[in-house]
Amino acid sequence: MKLSQVKGNTWVIEANQLIPLYKLGDGRCVLLDTGLFEEREELEETLLSNCLTPAGVLCSHAHVDHCANNGYFQEKYGTKVALTFPEAGMCSSLLTLKCYFLTLSPGTVERESSCMLHTPDVIIPPADGPFSFCGSDFRIVHTPGHSSGHVCTVTPDNVCYTADALLSQELLGAKLPYNLSQEMAIHSREKLRGLDCGAYIMAHRGVCSGGEIGALIDGNQDLIRRRDEYVEEAKKEAERIRRQAEVDAKTIVGESEIARVARDKAREMVTQANDRSKAIINVANEYTDDALRRTEEAIQQALEEVRESRARFRAVSREKLQAQQARPEEQTGGK
Ligand SMILES: [Fe+2]
Repeated sequence: MKLSQVKGNTWVIEANQLIPLYKLGDGRCVLLDTGLFEEREELEETLLSNCLTPAGVLCSHAHVDHCANNGYFQEKYGTKVALTFPEAGMCSSLLTLKCYFLTLSPGTVERESSCMLHTPDVIIPPADGPFSFCGSDFRIVHTPGHSSGHVCTVTPDNVCYTADALLSQELLGAKLPYNLSQEMAIHSREKLRGLDCGAYIMAHRGVCSGGEIGALIDGNQDLIRRRDEYVEEAKKEAERIRRQAEVDAKTIVGESEIARVARDKAREMVTQANDRSKAIINVANEYTDDALRRTEEAIQQALEEVRESRARFRAVSREKLQAQQARPEEQTGGK
């Protein structure tokens, strides 16, 4: 890893993130964070190849890319580790670590992150101000928001390590800032404006001068506000979609109800029509039967009248015939 001087005894190791260190003289240094577990070997090699021994670690916060080798350096080199109380608490057990890795199982936390478990030698005081550590005078600025006990550290060279309180200009458009509390992170960043340091080191990932820090803080604050606006808009859009879905669902249910009522009404009308049709057919049948019966009776009566007339006709004809036969005999006997 490349080791670059920032100012005076303040240097920076270019790991996955920037790891500042302050040279104490006689080959000792104070590391401001210890990087990722995977970077351990390379980080150690960088220190050794530059004849540096880590006398202390003044750790910004207990995230996996900032403290994973604290315990290792403690054990191997007797390095003194300083952490704030909230961050020390998080590294105290697997279960407190699980508060950080909330979605992971205890087994996964143990397997992947037990390197973070350690007990600091020194608790950083809870107030802003001077902090004497490993014989040098640092200044602590508490910057909660990104994590509960996050601190920025000003080295004796008046160089500020902002850790994760600020993103560098290069990463403003590439990395989504993570904060436990956006409001507290915004407030913490505002505290950095008044530090009046000669240089600032951002863990992710850059170094800027005192003249550039104001614009960089503005850029970081704007990014959070834009993200908040984006999230707010997304929430509103989600609410609009939910309401529209509710209305659509009610309409569909309403239309189904109308169709069901219409179907029932249609069935009722067909049943009534069938009943009426049957009644009309019955009435028509009865009427026709009655008419035929009356016709039959009339014909029967007429037939009987014809028979009577015929009988009377025959009787009258017989009487007339007998009368004609009797009349000539009378005329003949008289001569
Ligand atoms: Fe972090």
